Amino acid sequence: MRRILQTMALAACLTPLGAAANPPPEVAAIFKAHNCTVCHLLAGRTVVGPAYTEIATRYADDKTGALPVLSERVRKGSDAKLWGQAPMPPSPNISEADADAAVKWILGL
Ligand code: HEC
Repeated sequence: MRRILQTMALAACLTPLGAAANPPPEVAAIFKAHNCTVCHLLAGRTVVGPAYTEIATRYADDKTGALPVLSERVRKGSDAKLWGQAPMPPSPNISEADADAAVKWILGL
């Protein structure tokens, strides 16, 4: 019984983190291919750019409207007036579909 309770407590601790920490392989591949991970953490602090969970929170009220805007900023860059730290350089090699997929996943966090 004690063991079952311990296992349940452990699972309760791990579940939220696990859910946020695992982009599906196709999205993880996009982040890796375009160096997004160099500047963005999944959650927690700002590295160069804001954590993905912060971005999701900021646009939580209008995810549908935010998707094309953010996707374009990912492709063309963003000028540091939004988050106030640094500009995001453009990623000219990312396809529109991949930028959409990455942003869609971020907004779903
Ligand atoms: C060289 C560092 C760097 C790289 C590489 C980078 N970003 Fe960013 N990103 C930033 C910074 C800095 C900001 C904040 C820009 C601002 O305030 O305008 C940002 C902002 C964002 C935003 C929010 C934009 C907004 O309008 O609120 C999204 C979404 C995003 N990045 C996704 C990505 C994705 C996806 C990739 C990979 C294709 C990527 N970033 C690559 C630094 C980076």
